[in-house]
Amino acid sequence: MKWVLGIESSCDETAAALWHVPTRRFFEVIARQLATHAPYGGVVPELASRCHLETVAPLVQAVCRQAGITLGEIDAVAATAGPGLAGALIVGLSYGKALAAALGKPFVAVNHIEAHMVSACAEQEVPFPFVALVVSGGHTLLADVEEVCRYRIIGRTRDDAAGEAFDKGAKLLGLGYPGGLALARLAERGNPRAIHFPRALMRRGVFDFSFSGLKTALLYYLEEHPDRAQEDVAASYQEAIVDVLARKTIAAARMLARRYVVLGGGVSANAALRTRLQADAKRYGLYVVLPSLPLCTDNARMIAYRGATLLEARGADALTADIFPTFRVTC
Ligand code: KG4
Ligand code: ZN
Repeated sequence: MKWVLGIESSCDETAAALWHVPTRRFFEVIARQLATHAPYGGVVPELASRCHLETVAPLVQAVCRQAGITLGEIDAVAATAGPGLAGALIVGLSYGKALAAALGKPFVAVNHIEAHMVSACAEQEVPFPFVALVVSGGHTLLADVEEVCRYRIIGRTRDDAAGEAFDKGAKLLGLGYPGGLALARLAERGNPRAIHFPRALMRRGVFDFSFSGLKTALLYYLEEHPDRAQEDVAASYQEAIVDVLARKTIAAARMLARRYVVLGGGVSANAALRTRLQADAKRYGLYVVLPSLPLCTDNARMIAYRGATLLEARGADALTADIFPTFRVTC
């Protein structure tokens, strides 16, 4: 097997990637819908589906041109089946299944969160078992990953996801949507110890997360201190999120005696989180594996990579594979 095509359409990005198995190289094209949804302050599901419909076929052709291959040279097709927006998922999954059927090649349905969980392994060999922290816009979970197809969730958020906490904080600071990156940029110029924001569920052995109280604390703080330097507020708010994520992840790895910690999801692009996790891991003799930036936020590379490893580990999926909008463990 040489070429695996990955298709991603779970939210507001349409992406197609080719994973060249022998050289472990990626080719990718992405169509973002930021301008479409910006006037509404959030993703409008029907508009997202329509954009996916318009772009998915041209993107697949574009990525083939980029890699210098024809559609017929694709050996397997993988597409995101969930979690995500139902109408958006249907577009990518249906296209992927139809293409696989037309080419007579195997099809693999990929779980977007499980793809984030192992995305860094596409770039670096990581020995199982390891602890994975997935921090995206809709999900935050800690998992003990035992094999390609076996993992156990040891912690998840009870309310907002880490990315959501960044986005809601950014909105309160007037930084627009989605504001995770904008908040991180503002925080670079501030003092992370200027204000103490609350950290929830910090008891020993508790690996679940809760970020909704933090968002409320920020709201009250901004009401009471309208003139406080925004850089300091952003840096302290970011620090509260990063502190919780890093402490729980390292504690989980130590409790389970895992030497490797793998990070994934949009928030894994956050520079403060990357630096902090590396520093904490070093202190305890652990290794942190960070995905490169194109593999952090939503992408089709991780779908192609996950598809290739699933195909090898458990074979193809039937063309009756359906979407699943809410998260579930699929292996
Ligand atoms: O994984 P992802 O691209 O999409 C989902 O599957 O949800 O994650 C998107 C999330 C958003 O909440 C976005 O604000 C956040 O990742 N994000 C960041 C950064 N880059 C993206 N949050 C903090 N710092 C960043 N540099
Ligand atoms: Zn994602």
